[in-house]
Amino acid sequence: MGSLLFIPVIFFFLPLASSISYTEFIYPNFVASNIKFADNGGAFLFSRNKTYKAAIVNPLAKEGSFYFCVTHVPSNTIIWSANRNDPVSSTGNVNISSKGISITDRDGNLRWSTPQLQSAVYALRLTEIGNLVLLDRSNVSLWESFHYPTDTIVVGQSFPVGTVLLSSISSSDLSSSNYSFSVAASDAMLEWYGQIYWKLSMDPNAFINSNAVVEYMILNATGLYLLAHNSSVVVIEVVLPHSDFRIAKLESTGQFTVKSFSSAGWTQEFIGPVDSCQIPFFCGQVGLCNEDSATNSPSCSCPSSFHTVPPSLGGWGCKPIDHSIVLASPCNSSRGGEEIKSAAFSYLSLGYGIEYFAIDFSEPARYGENIPSCQALCSKECSCLGIFYGNTSGSCYMIKDRFGSIRQSSSFVNDLLGYVKVQVGSTPPRFNGEEKHNFPLAALILLPISGFLILLTLYFLWWRRRLFLKRIQIKLGNVSSRASVELDAFFIPGLPRRFSLEELAAATDNFKVQIGSGGFGSVFKGILPDKTVVAVKKITNLGIEGKKEFCTEIAVIGNIHHTNLVKLKGFCAQARERLLVYEYMNRGSLDRTLFGNGPALEWQERYDIAVGTARGLSYLHRGCEHKIIHCDVKPENILLHDSSQAKISDFGLSKLLAPEQSGLFTTMRGTRGYLAPEWLTNSAISEKTDVYSYGMVLLEVVSGRKNCTTRSHDHSLDGSDSSGCQSSSSTGLGLVYFPLFALEMHEQGKYLELADPRLEGRVTYEEVKKLVCIALCCVQEEPALRPSMDTVVSMLEGGIPLSQPRNESLNFLRFYGRRFTEASTIEEGNRNGSVIYSPTNALPSCMSGSNYFFSYMSSQQVSGPR
Ligand SMILES: *[C@@H]1O[C@H](CO)[C@@H](O)[C@H](O)[C@H]1NC(C)=O
Ligand SMILES: *[C@@H]1O[C@H](CO)[C@@H](O)[C@H](O)[C@H]1NC(C)=O
Ligand SMILES: *[C@@H]1O[C@H](CO)[C@@H](O)[C@H](O)[C@H]1NC(C)=O
Ligand SMILES: *[C@@H]1O[C@H](CO)[C@@H](O)[C@H](O)[C@H]1NC(C)=O
Ligand SMILES: *[C@@H]1O[C@H](CO)[C@@H](O)[C@H](O)[C@H]1NC(C)=O
Ligand SMILES: *[C@@H]1O[C@H](CO)[C@@H](O)[C@H](O)[C@H]1NC(C)=O
Ligand SMILES: *[C@@H]1O[C@H](CO)[C@@H](O)[C@H](O)[C@H]1NC(C)=O
Ligand SMILES: *[C@@H]1O[C@H](CO)[C@@H](O)[C@H](O)[C@H]1NC(C)=O
Repeated sequence: MGSLLFIPVIFFFLPLASSISYTEFIYPNFVASNIKFADNGGAFLFSRNKTYKAAIVNPLAKEGSFYFCVTHVPSNTIIWSANRNDPVSSTGNVNISSKGISITDRDGNLRWSTPQLQSAVYALRLTEIGNLVLLDRSNVSLWESFHYPTDTIVVGQSFPVGTVLLSSISSSDLSSSNYSFSVAASDAMLEWYGQIYWKLSMDPNAFINSNAVVEYMILNATGLYLLAHNSSVVVIEVVLPHSDFRIAKLESTGQFTVKSFSSAGWTQEFIGPVDSCQIPFFCGQVGLCNEDSATNSPSCSCPSSFHTVPPSLGGWGCKPIDHSIVLASPCNSSRGGEEIKSAAFSYLSLGYGIEYFAIDFSEPARYGENIPSCQALCSKECSCLGIFYGNTSGSCYMIKDRFGSIRQSSSFVNDLLGYVKVQVGSTPPRFNGEEKHNFPLAALILLPISGFLILLTLYFLWWRRRLFLKRIQIKLGNVSSRASVELDAFFIPGLPRRFSLEELAAATDNFKVQIGSGGFGSVFKGILPDKTVVAVKKITNLGIEGKKEFCTEIAVIGNIHHTNLVKLKGFCAQARERLLVYEYMNRGSLDRTLFGNGPALEWQERYDIAVGTARGLSYLHRGCEHKIIHCDVKPENILLHDSSQAKISDFGLSKLLAPEQSGLFTTMRGTRGYLAPEWLTNSAISEKTDVYSYGMVLLEVVSGRKNCTTRSHDHSLDGSDSSGCQSSSSTGLGLVYFPLFALEMHEQGKYLELADPRLEGRVTYEEVKKLVCIALCCVQEEPALRPSMDTVVSMLEGGIPLSQPRNESLNFLRFYGRRFTEASTIEEGNRNGSVIYSPTNALPSCMSGSNYFFSYMSSQQVSGPR
């Protein structure tokens, strides 16, 4: 605010000094130079409120480095420059004519101009959001600087798919370098010479809301958004603290940042990649980047058999110690292919267990190669500068056009082998005698030594692995000699990280801390060497036998990323062991919080969980390539993180389970109490089956208790209405089938009766009504009547009006309710069946399968043909 008051004061005096008026419009036949507008720092055009100015500036006070720029005045930040690659001297001119804007140097040579325009320019305007616009006579925009961004986007600007930001070389040189930022159909990404090194969707602060096709990116007071369908759909959002002015910039370091500006200065709000070693050229060509995990500061060195390039050769980088060997140079179109073929290439090892930024984002050129064949593939292509070879999978990655920095891997299961393509020096005639002798000498000494060292390392690794495996086998009671190192020859694209059994044993301290168990086996807490906490799921009840089938499923699951789905970080398929490594959710599963003894979940948290779960399911159902039906939606499979962020776990696993060998229920998955009626009639299982289970979960979220539990009278919801409940749905035993109670209260419009009494009224009638109505719509007997999860999300978010469930499609609840009370009486004395874990009240599960079945059948019989 202070600056806004301050600026008009300055400009009240300045016009007097140079007798030129500063407006938001300039008309053709106008010529400006820095000298002419020196009094005003080169500025000759201001936006209406003087938030932005257009000026010829010399930001770095360097000779001959004048640029025509748009500058944000309060922060004095250049947000756009016309001639970033062609600076002019102080006498250079900016000429606004009816043909557009042109920039000429002292001698009148054209350095930059706007492209050919549709019609004659009437005015140049600088808008209040910083857009420089050429207008024709009828105020139609002919050209806008926002359509040609440099390295910065501001609030109000839209950044469409197909546009790029190019970073500047350094803070003292505005010309463009080769880090680029662009928005694609489903993501925003950073690239270096066409090699992707970062994606917005992978950032933990980015929330994926939809998989609609992105049209553009915007930045506003509340965050950064990728939008689809003419801005009606948010695809990815990064929510930021409220701020009226912020910019997104591709920094000269190659990092994408979002910063907000206030009277206190700039605040960095977002950065990607966070880890400097992920920046492609951080340590120069073939430089080895090492992130010190303690200090979080990166350092550069060279791999063995390389040394630092002398500073005179420009920047950091590494080249072979042996001076007669040079790194292969990128393709040169002027050079004939023949020449390339005849050149003798060899490969210098970069060592084992290193990482290269582009590997995470690219597909191997080939699978199932061996090292020599992978190298031969690279030798055939002049653009190939080196290879990375996945020793386990046999995948062969070719690095083309540019070779960046490599990284020391933090994971000891990383099995990448890296090689750079080298050539015996192409300038032998210039060798002096000394260097000529060096080659054979160095080779004679180096080769055997390095060979011996590699053998030694390999032996050590093998020995350590064996030792480890032995220990684990004893621990797991699975001492099969076959279970030793077993490598697979197949490769499945998109497979997440593969862990070895010994690594997971180390991470979980030999499977010490069990944090859960379920239909699949047990879940253990683990800590990876890079300090990430993970949940390791040990699958015992596996249906599919083959490792390849298993991996195919894992590849599908591993590629599903959504903010409301628990992320699969990796897996282990070794011998007969099958383990899945998931991100760790620090608040455990919803059932513990919802039904546990701890503080009751507040209403807002419950609502957020309802929305989050719906979004996650909607994402699973929407997938066009692999639509996934969860089949086991229940509170145990909804995990919570920090601020009640709900994430669904175990999706995609139903295919992996062993089928129950029991007649009618061969295909049955999921958990009683959440099972849709169609499971029992052998009718088609569809995503609407999940919708049913979601509806059941929603009722439990509202009430804070299991749908199927006994309830004593003194715990009953207070007052007169509980008696209404008892007379119609409960027997003298105090049993209530909550979905039926919910239906009755819905019919009477008494929604508040359904809210968790522990909330003591801290709920809103409208929201309880909304959740209950949605839940009842979801549990309708006829799958076609149930809304899709997309619709549920829209109803929850208020995008579409609430629909009402149909009574006749809910009548089955009355029969379930009656069967429930009867079945519970039977089950009282028969608790050895499967018991749903509930810390407060370890009660029998809803109904046994057969009871459920009979109750369903009777409902069919009674309701008759429809
Ligand atoms: C200029 O500032 C005034 C007062 O701060 C504000 O009301 C007006 O909307 C601003 N004009 C534009 C074009 O933003
Ligand atoms: C400005 O540009 C117009 C059109 O290109 C040209 O005719 C005119 O001579 C230029 N003026 C100066 C001072 O360069
Ligand atoms: C063009 O738009 C500007 C700003 O909105 C306005 O001041 C001006 O009068 C308009 N001119 C014409 C010819 O419509
Ligand atoms: C960026 O790449 C282009 C072409 O690939 C090249 O001409 C230019 O010199 C590069 N710029 C820098 C700063 O490396
Ligand atoms: C920012 O844009 C998003 C997406 O269009 C929108 O939901 C949000 O309300 C906007 N924020 C403001 C403050 O306009
Ligand atoms: C996009 O939205 C704008 C304003 O909301 C509207 O004028 C335009 O027609 C829409 N375009 C399409 C293709 O729907
Ligand atoms: C590429 O071709 C140009 C001629 O167009 C030549 O001057 C240059 O030396 C070549 N570069 C390499 C690395 O061969
Ligand atoms: C690569 O895998 C082979 C087996 O396919 C193994 O013999 C060799 O030791 C591995 N190399 C390294 C460096 O681990």
